[in-house]
Amino acid sequence: MFDLTGKTALVTGGGRGLGLEMAKALARAGAWTVINGRNRQNLEEARERLAADGISVGIAPGDITQDVETILLRAIDKTGQLDILIHAVGERDRRGTEAMAPQDFASLLNTDLTAAYAVARSALPLIQRSSAGRLIFVTSIAAFAARAGDPAYTAAKGGLEALTRSLAVELGADNLTVNAIAPGWFATETNAHLAADPDLKAFVEVRIPLKRWGRPEEIAPAAVFLASPAASFVNGTTLTVDGGMTVQM
Ligand SMILES: NC(=O)c1ccc[n+]([C@@H]2O[C@H](COP(=O)([O-])OP(=O)(O)OC[C@H]3O[C@@H](n4cnc5c(N)ncnc54)[C@H](OP(=O)(O)O)[C@@H]3O)[C@@H](O)[C@H]2O)c1
Repeated sequence: MFDLTGKTALVTGGGRGLGLEMAKALARAGAWTVINGRNRQNLEEARERLAADGISVGIAPGDITQDVETILLRAIDKTGQLDILIHAVGERDRRGTEAMAPQDFASLLNTDLTAAYAVARSALPLIQRSSAGRLIFVTSIAAFAARAGDPAYTAAKGGLEALTRSLAVELGADNLTVNAIAPGWFATETNAHLAADPDLKAFVEVRIPLKRWGRPEEIAPAAVFLASPAASFVNGTTLTVDGGMTVQM
């Protein structure tokens, strides 16, 4: 039910953090998996680390805001097919409203929302040829719960969650589903300084029912589930993985 043998997957933003964890899990489940990011060296190092663990992946370097067609071509160069697209690229800019000019706001929306639409749209002709195509966006709990001083990321992730529903309704079919994963607080490399902050530790203990940050590898099973035959009738939904943070009053 969770076997991805014979599938090809592309994970954008797959060179580190949550994207890398999801890519690793897809590969372990049997998919030929290709990871994307802008920094080629980082991708090559990630590939070597995975190879040392017996996991083989391909790389597709490129900026998702500019090089979509090149990235897709690299993703399919080994198998000629694309069955699963996980779009994990997401940047954050925590400047509040006073500090953030409209052009900076638009720039973040371009990376976090417009690029998601662009890569999904360009990948569609490939994914629609799959017998079980999967389009999976990585949103955030910021899509439905806001922190003060974070307008652009909050708007982008809210938009991405709505885009998930829109594409699921427009494109959903027996051979294609569109879903999202909304991570809560994960102690990735990027968040290491926050995870080490004693004030935030106290906050986490009160605000997250499991009283801890998520471990990066804990995002991966959600990706395998949504990508797998087990999720064949799941369409247009967002799977929240946040230790219960957003359901606590
Ligand atoms: N970590 C969390 O707690 C958390 C919580 C909620 C949601 N999320 C979401 O989960 C996703 C992954 O988060 P993360 O913390 O693992 O992120 P991360 O560690 O910052 O990794 C982001 C990845 O995206 C790549 N990337 C960034 N811009 C790109 C671009 N324009 N084109 C291609 N690749 C690009 C980066 O590689 P290069 O720099 O080499 O391009 C990197 O591999 C994001 O969408 C984020 O918003 C994370």
